[in-house]
Order: sequence, then structure tokens, then C-alpha cells
Amino acid sequence: MSAHNEHKTMTLTLIVWRQKYANDQGKFETYTAKGITEHHSFLEMLDVVNEDLIKSGKEPIMFDHDCREGICGMCSQVVNGVPHGGQERTTVCQLHMRKFRDGDTIYIEPWRARAFPIVRDLVVDRTALDTIIQAGGYTSCHTGGVPDGNAILIPKPAADYAMDAAECIGCGACAAACPNSAAMLFTSAKVAQLAALPQGQAEAADRVKSMLDAHKECGFGNCSNHYECQAACPKGINVKFIAKLNREYLKAQFA
Ligand code: SF4
Ligand code: FES
Repeated sequence: MSAHNEHKTMTLTLIVWRQKYANDQGKFETYTAKGITEHHSFLEMLDVVNEDLIKSGKEPIMFDHDCREGICGMCSQVVNGVPHGGQERTTVCQLHMRKFRDGDTIYIEPWRARAFPIVRDLVVDRTALDTIIQAGGYTSCHTGGVPDGNAILIPKPAADYAMDAAECIGCGACAAACPNSAAMLFTSAKVAQLAALPQGQAEAADRVKSMLDAHKECGFGNCSNHYECQAACPKGINVKFIAKLNREYLKAQFA
């Protein structure tokens, strides 16, 4: 890279959702992001804007983040109308400013779904996903000591299938992308992961029923086969797990 590019900076226009508290009406506000290089991550770009806001005595833009490396699922932002910004298998925290150009305008909003009430600005309450997990996303069988756990042989295809489902980081982008605000991709990944493993069999029927009941009670809609969830998912969770969820639910009716 040339020295010229190293020092080149961008100026961008940000149109950001600002909302003071849950029931506040909220509105878009416009900010200028100055001195941004291609090496800044998207969240670092917001950090720069926030430092400028704080220096000028204004309220910084509140946003959730933790790991900043695509693991924790906290960075719940809709960038230019797409949850996580629309890059394949990429969370907001993994977006980099090299993907944007000098002079770009970027719209930034929080997740929009009834089950994810806005707390402030870009921060939403994703407790609903925890409620679904608490309803059945665990096993409570007696597994014995560590050697006993290791003694349960798991066929490689089942382990691979479970690992694919276990990639879900619980970010909620699937629900934010769904026209019906369904969190079916999330719920199905958790159900399918445990349904694939011997340790998950004992509670399989109760699990799928309880988790789907919790999904409904939390205010998520039903799957409407738009597949927007799969397109938005930063972990590549496949809608085949929703088909698996439906099969598990059918089986549970006769269990
Ligand atoms: S299925 Fe994908 S989009 Fe939905 S919560 Fe899991 S990782 Fe996020
Ligand atoms: S901050 Fe952890 S996934 Fe983005």
C-alpha cells in the first residue's frame, strides 16, 4: 500500500436513529464522520463520531457491542436498511470502512421487531432470545463424570450438523430481517443442535414445544418462508433447520 493511501481519510454523512428512551418517538439525526481511514472498523468509526460529540458537549450515540469480532452477537445495527449491513457472514463489528467510499451516506438504525424494544438509540432489549433459551435450550440429563461424557460416541455427520447449528450467536438479525419478525431461524438452530445429539434426545419433545411457546409469547411472528433470515444471518445458519424444527414439532405431537 502506498504512503498516500495510508494517510487518506474519508468524510461520511451518517443518518442515525436517535431515541432517548423506550417510549420516545425517536428520529433520524445527521452527523458528519471526519478523519475516517480504510483501517477503521465500522464501530471504530462510530467511536470517532462519539468522541467528537462528547467534545462538543452532545450525547454520544448509544450502541451495543462487546467482542467486536463476530462472536457475542451484541452489535444490533441495521446498516443501509440491512441487519449487519448485508455483507455475507459478517456482523456489524466485522464491517470495515474500506468497504465504504469518501462522501458516502450511511443510514444506521436499531433492530426493528416488536419483541426487541428499543432501549436507547441503537440499543435494543434482546431478552426475548434468552427467554426462548430458558424455555428449553439446554439438556438436564445426568452425564456422569468427564470420562462418561467422552464415552458417548457421536457419529461425525451428527456432530457436524450440530456444529453448523451451534454457529448461531443469538444476535437477532434473523428476526430483524423477517417481514413477520419471526425468530424461527434462531429457535430452529437451538432446537436442531440438541435434537442431533444423543444427549438432547430425552427432552426433545418438551424442548421444541416449550421453545415454540416461548417464541410466540415473546411476540415474534411465524415463519412466512421469505428466507430473509438466512440472507441476513452473519453465521450462515441455513433455513433447513426451520424444516428440522417443524419435523421435531410434528414428532412431539405424537410423543
Ligand atoms: S440464526 Fe443467525 S441471525 Fe439469527 S440469531 Fe442466530 S446468528 Fe443471528
Ligand atoms: S460485538 Fe460481538 S458480534 Fe459484534
